[in-house]
Amino acid sequence: MNAAENITAKKLADLGVTEPDQIAPLFAQVHWRFGDEALRVHDEGSWKLFRDAWLGRKSGVLTQITDNWLKPAGPALKPAVGAALNQLRAHLEPKIDALQSIIDSGGGEEAASTRDRVDLSLPGVIRPVGSRHLIRQVFQEIEDIFFSIGFSVAEGPEIETPYYNFEALNIPEFHPVRDDMDTFYVDVPSSAGEKSAASLLLRTHTSPVQIRTMEKTKPPVRVIVPGKVYRRDNPDATHSFMFHQIEGLAVDSDITFCDFTGTIEYFVKQFFGPGVKTRFRPSYFPFTEPSVEFDASCIFCNGTGSNSSGATCSKCKGSGWIELFGAGMVDPAVYGFVNYDPKKVSGFAFGIGIDRLAMLKYGIDDIQVFFQNDVRFLRQFP
Ligand code: FA5
Repeated sequence: MNAAENITAKKLADLGVTEPDQIAPLFAQVHWRFGDEALRVHDEGSWKLFRDAWLGRKSGVLTQITDNWLKPAGPALKPAVGAALNQLRAHLEPKIDALQSIIDSGGGEEAASTRDRVDLSLPGVIRPVGSRHLIRQVFQEIEDIFFSIGFSVAEGPEIETPYYNFEALNIPEFHPVRDDMDTFYVDVPSSAGEKSAASLLLRTHTSPVQIRTMEKTKPPVRVIVPGKVYRRDNPDATHSFMFHQIEGLAVDSDITFCDFTGTIEYFVKQFFGPGVKTRFRPSYFPFTEPSVEFDASCIFCNGTGSNSSGATCSKCKGSGWIELFGAGMVDPAVYGFVNYDPKKVSGFAFGIGIDRLAMLKYGIDDIQVFFQNDVRFLRQFP
């Protein structure tokens, strides 16, 4: 029972009413309750209960107000209570009669529809405005940087064939590098409900879109490929089994290793600001030659490898560096799969781990918070 339902059963003194200007708000609550209950009247039975609740001689609301408010009121309050009670009676009686007419004329439905009517005079419901997820914001930041130097966006499927995910990237079936990635195969039934003959997998990187893009486009090519990728990695502070990458690919007749390092360094300085320390580290990918890993200094331990209490930094595992992405000059063998002439073209490619990049830039110490969707985290990045 809310306050509006109770108040007419109480004395004015019990309600703390001592001044005449407290009377109007009190009666406003009673009017509100009347209007609210009227919305629930839809047939003869509910109308009778409603009428008795308000006009009943023994304990209807008007009788309660007379007994509990008007009669005991002192001279200071009595005129105000009397006037407000008369106004209330003048409002109630015709409304109750009108409701009866509606029900008698078979208009119970009409009465019920008042329930659903929108009262335009009431304040609107203010819905909180959401915001884009931090990963989405970081995608946008990176896209803007690459747009400014002539790249455009390409997309590809998240369910891939082994050909695009591996073979056309110079990773044949029995190549050991596949062990880490040969994972998450899916059975996609055909429209007739049969198991598809071709094997398919959730792509393990965005690199297959390099092949799909070169198959469709003659050089020069300058694309970035934002998207989700999937791997059988155990979740920890820097690993997730679903994460995000942005692939980059630039191929033209005269692209050199200097263009490659210049582009990467330009991007990293734009994204992190000039203060970040970076390094290229020799690495191996079957589809780039030479290949590198690109690392940034660990912001969680300032590159020292240990935290303030001297323990090994759990984010960089003590190395002082966090791996951001793999990259390199496109291996000429890859051009053979897309009918490019390796003697006439050269280029570079990279695959950036977006989640780790976002962690570094925004000081987030656990990748898992991106996927837990706790609004206390999300609200920090409006
Ligand atoms: C690749 O995926 C290559 N396709 C990148 C590439 C593209 C190399 C083009 C050369 C040319 P790698 O497995 O290192 O590379 O992953 C790239 C980045 O993804 C990593 O540097 C890291 O930032 C991120 N990453 C890898 N595994 C995970 C994971 N389980 N969770 C979150 N981020 C990950």
